[in-house]
Amino acid sequence: MGKRIDVKDLNVYYSDFLAVEGVTMTVEPRSVTAFIGPSGCGKSTFLRTLNRMHEVIPGGRVEGSVRLDDQDLYAKEIDPVAVRRSVGMVFQRPNPFPTMSIYDNVVAGLRLNGVKGRKALDEAVETSLKGANLWNEVKDRLKKPGAGLSGGQQQRLCIARAIAVRPQVLLMDEPCSALDPISTLAIEDLVNELKTDYTIVIVTHNMQQAARVSDRTAFFNLAATGKPGKLIEIDDTTRIFNNPKERATEDYISGRFG
Ligand SMILES: Nc1ncnc2c1ncn2[C@@H]1O[C@H](COP(=O)(O)OP(=O)(O)O)[C@@H](O)[C@H]1O
Ligand SMILES: [Mg+2]
Repeated sequence: MGKRIDVKDLNVYYSDFLAVEGVTMTVEPRSVTAFIGPSGCGKSTFLRTLNRMHEVIPGGRVEGSVRLDDQDLYAKEIDPVAVRRSVGMVFQRPNPFPTMSIYDNVVAGLRLNGVKGRKALDEAVETSLKGANLWNEVKDRLKKPGAGLSGGQQQRLCIARAIAVRPQVLLMDEPCSALDPISTLAIEDLVNELKTDYTIVIVTHNMQQAARVSDRTAFFNLAATGKPGKLIEIDDTTRIFNNPKERATEDYISGRFG
């Protein structure tokens, strides 16, 4: 598990609007890469191109290439549904299926993939919930609704659901922005553990969080509203926070932005 992502000359559009321009970057396998940058610079938009979710939006399209190891995700023969299976996503607001039990939430993706055996599902529930550091808190109430959990628990449930299908890559779009500080630390610990197995990309508006959890940091910026967002630089996180190459990066991380 855990593949390398290679993006080359990627332009991302909403119909005629060029939202993100000319991104070239490599995301190393089994590492954590943070995306930072001001609101509206295209972090979420770019993130969604990494599992072909961007094109679900009417008018959403890309130019350029995204490769997962040696596979071109946008090649004609590639099934976007299979891509979304191998590149999982966790969203800003925890979004467990509200009427489903904790158990059914975790195995929802597996069932869609046709897995039926009771034993296989039971095992997946235990492994995934343990992987998401949630097992001990919920093992006695697996049949209760996922919506009954706290926000932080719900987000870990969503992570369990994402890893249940054994993806290669985990994309997280501001996964802690709706959580309290304790739950945030729990998610950060979890991200740190998950990178042993997965390639992780995490968008965060919290620079301390980027500094704490990531190995590499990518800074995105935009020249002005209505202009495309661009990748300014990507480097080791310590380098980005201590000695970035670009002035814009330094201004942003030191709060002199805008
Ligand atoms: N569904 C959409 N349709 C049209 N434009 C969009 C859509 N979603 C985002 N955008 C635009 O794309 C740009 C990048 O947005 P976004 O990726 O959400 O930025 P970020 O995540 O960095 O805050 C913004 O100008 C935003 O208004
Ligand atoms: Mg966003």
